Amino acid sequence: MSHPVDQTLTLPNGNVLPNRIAKAAMEENMAIEGHLPGDGIFKLYKAWANGGTGLLITGNVMVDHRAMTGPGGIALEQDTPLEPFKQWANSAKQNNTQVWMQINHPGRQVYAAMGGHVLSPSDIPLDMGKHSSLFGQPTAMTETQIEELIQRFATTASRAIEAGFNGVQIHAAHGYLLSQFLSPLTNKRHDQWGGPLENRARLLYQVVKAIQNTVPKDTAIAVKLNSADFQRGGFDSDDAQAVVKTLGELNVDLVELSGGSYESPAMQGITQDGRTLEREAYFLSFAKDIAQHATMPIMTTGGINRLAIANNVINAGVDLIGMGRALAFRPDLPNQWKNNSDAQAQLPNVAWKNKTMASIATMAITKRQLQRIGKGKQPKPSSSAVFSLIADQMRLKKLTKRYRARYAGGF
Ligand SMILES: Cc1cc2nc3c(=O)[nH]c(=O)nc-3n(C[C@H](O)[C@H](O)[C@H](O)COP(=O)(O)O)c2cc1C
Repeated sequence: MSHPVDQTLTLPNGNVLPNRIAKAAMEENMAIEGHLPGDGIFKLYKAWANGGTGLLITGNVMVDHRAMTGPGGIALEQDTPLEPFKQWANSAKQNNTQVWMQINHPGRQVYAAMGGHVLSPSDIPLDMGKHSSLFGQPTAMTETQIEELIQRFATTASRAIEAGFNGVQIHAAHGYLLSQFLSPLTNKRHDQWGGPLENRARLLYQVVKAIQNTVPKDTAIAVKLNSADFQRGGFDSDDAQAVVKTLGELNVDLVELSGGSYESPAMQGITQDGRTLEREAYFLSFAKDIAQHATMPIMTTGGINRLAIANNVINAGVDLIGMGRALAFRPDLPNQWKNNSDAQAQLPNVAWKNKTMASIATMAITKRQLQRIGKGKQPKPSSSAVFSLIADQMRLKKLTKRYRARYAGGF
């Protein structure tokens, strides 16, 4: 039986996605030495491509090795060897699947243990309560640093396309640098990059334009945006609506709507300002509203694991559904849905009192599945939260040490 999610989707650039199901970006932390993708990543993406997902969006790839979202992250810069990225694109494009590289700069969301450049629109550090000291103190970016950053996004994008990726997704959500510029809570600038929304969004628009100027015309250019930050005084749904309108005028091919940041992890279904989200398809009501006015296709990600919900999202007028965790635990879920409409991934439920620790443990169990698939093993939904957390912390410590040793003489 054919379902709403089985329809193809033609993007404004003419590319056709084979269905309405995308794998949302999940940082793998599986880079080999030199911030490069290796065999584990290739195997993982091959499994997803063969699992029936129409579009694979990679975990975030850094535009600057001096500012990493985490240890074991991947960076693609001017001098990075391209061969491993060609292999990555190839392994992901099996089975008519499209692959886009998500490109990102963490801004102030950099772990203090990693070190490197901690940049932000203003010098406001993360407020994570007793966990705040885990993150670096940011410095406000200079005009020259902003210009360099725009160039870096364009360079990473053009090299991704040269390597064979079908498109790029600019990460402007989840409290990373572009999202910090968008939010009045983190952007207190008085120049052309701060103040009214058109100034706060200027950097995102400039990044889009710089990429358009360096890649072939038929390249898919997408943006991941918060439908809201879910923090009082933060970037809100009216702002998102206005930004999507301008991105439409700039001919962006797709906007993915998510929400939140490290301070308010709405992307995991938890908000800081107390607003409630949908129990499944967290951001559906926002996405539905935005899709009504948007000139480009809209995708929403967060809390989707069942075919009935995925179909509801498409029937509500949203063009594409994104899944993260469900595809980590069941990489062939879209294929399973073809024969069993009740199929769903068995997701971990870490019901610890300390929400921050519960969230870190959930991430750790999820990333363990990515590593398992990368080794050719089956995911193991029964993985213990405590064991995964400890194993992950040890692994990340080792990778942090590798990063620090690489740049011991300076960046
Ligand atoms: C292990 C893990 C890594 C993630 N890394 C990224 C990332 O690199 N970029 C991004 O935009 N979102 C990232 N996310 C968020 C997901 O894209 C998605 O928005 C979130 O998990 C909610 O969707 P889900 O309920 O389908 O998992 C990550 C999520 C997980 C679980």
